[in-house]
Amino acid sequence: MGSEIHPQTIAVIGAGTMGAGIAQVAASHGCWVHLIDINLEVLQRGLGGIKKNLDRLVEKGKLSLADREAVTSRIEPSDAIRGIERSELVIEAVIEDLAIKQGIFRQLDTTTRSEAVLATNTSSLSVSKIAEVVRDPSRVVGMHFFNPAPLMPLVEVVAGRLSDRRAIDFAVGTAKAWGKTPVVAKDTPGFIVNRVARGYYLEALRLLGEGVAGVDEIDNIMRVHGGFKMGPFELMDLVGLDVNLAVSTSVWEQMNKHPRFTPHDIQKKLVVDGNLGRKSGRGFYLYAYKHPLPAYVVDRRSFQLSLLLGDAVRTFAERAGTGRAGITEQYIFSRIMSAILNEAGYAFCENVATREDIDVAMIKGTNYPKGPLAWAEEIGHRTVRGLLRRLNESAGDGRYEPAAALAEC
Ligand SMILES: NC(=O)c1ccc[n+]([C@@H]2O[C@H](COP(=O)([O-])OP(=O)(O)OC[C@H]3O[C@@H](n4cnc5c(N)ncnc54)[C@H](O)[C@@H]3O)[C@@H](O)[C@H]2O)c1
Repeated sequence: MGSEIHPQTIAVIGAGTMGAGIAQVAASHGCWVHLIDINLEVLQRGLGGIKKNLDRLVEKGKLSLADREAVTSRIEPSDAIRGIERSELVIEAVIEDLAIKQGIFRQLDTTTRSEAVLATNTSSLSVSKIAEVVRDPSRVVGMHFFNPAPLMPLVEVVAGRLSDRRAIDFAVGTAKAWGKTPVVAKDTPGFIVNRVARGYYLEALRLLGEGVAGVDEIDNIMRVHGGFKMGPFELMDLVGLDVNLAVSTSVWEQMNKHPRFTPHDIQKKLVVDGNLGRKSGRGFYLYAYKHPLPAYVVDRRSFQLSLLLGDAVRTFAERAGTGRAGITEQYIFSRIMSAILNEAGYAFCENVATREDIDVAMIKGTNYPKGPLAWAEEIGHRTVRGLLRRLNESAGDGRYEPAAALAEC
């Protein structure tokens, strides 16, 4: 019920990367949009970016000139939060800072009608905390779009501690009406995608730190054997090492610094040195030439697997369809894969989302070739658990402790 309900008029606060993208999506689906940013330059740049995106669609024949005009005419820019009394939904997309976001929600509390749904696009802050400053926090939810918003299909609708059914249904209905795929997530660190994806990055960093293989080898293994579109290091370079590290740090701190989420020193050092990935020309790779070259020199060390761990790795690889790869490739592949599958298992156990929504989120939000929970079932919970147990014995800090969800079946 309620999923067909969506707004005619909305406001988007913040016209940066995300705000402008969200405004484009809404206006393209017939919505009137107040696009608000305190920085006039950003506002103009945001509108310019939207027009450019629409022009590209016109060139490709996907949008008529009349529709382009209609979409842009539905976006009304402003440098202050005013005139939004008619907005049925407000989506806040200002910088990731709790105090600033709460300041915005305090203003929204008095400038919107009481039944308007208030959403935040935060990727790592607690929706419930942001909602604390609003008199009626039941109307506050998260609507976490992915970058670039006009292209990425996923929206994580985040249910805060006090969000009511009406607000959640309204956000879900809006995302659907705008052609997106919504999933509902509990207000927990990293929600679904930014939490489950930690395993992909952090386990790859650990393998690099242990000197098992170089960045290009690890990336290649995950592309070839895992079917991922990009390897973990290529992806971190694309996202920006600083942005990726900030999410890892935030999830780790909110997860009581559990060793599963410990940010890696290699990444911290690259960020301190200003090697932020593609945007700075250098990260794990160097982007000075036509084809990126590995820029991080691995301190390669030989490694030995115990008989039992070697067996567990081979069984896992066999069941995951990589039985013909060499043992080093199998070891790298199975460690990274098991970290992802385990985190999805924890997220499921902790009721972050339904089984289906966790899988859909990872496919639509990060382009994973399969949903991790379905993947774990395909490989077999017993096999995944067996590998994690062996890894846990050698790690000694509990970071591979298998999630209870992997004990089912
Ligand atoms: N960039 C991403 O990949 C991404 C993806 C998903 C979610 N997010 C989240 O979306 C939000 C915005 O991120 P972004 O990348 O678009 O940031 P951005 O820096 O591109 O844009 C933020 C904008 O907020 C404006 N702003 C700051 N204070 C304001 C105020 N008081 N009133 C109005 N505008 C104000 C700034 O002028 C700026 O233009 C953050 O919460 C971020 O965590 C970002």
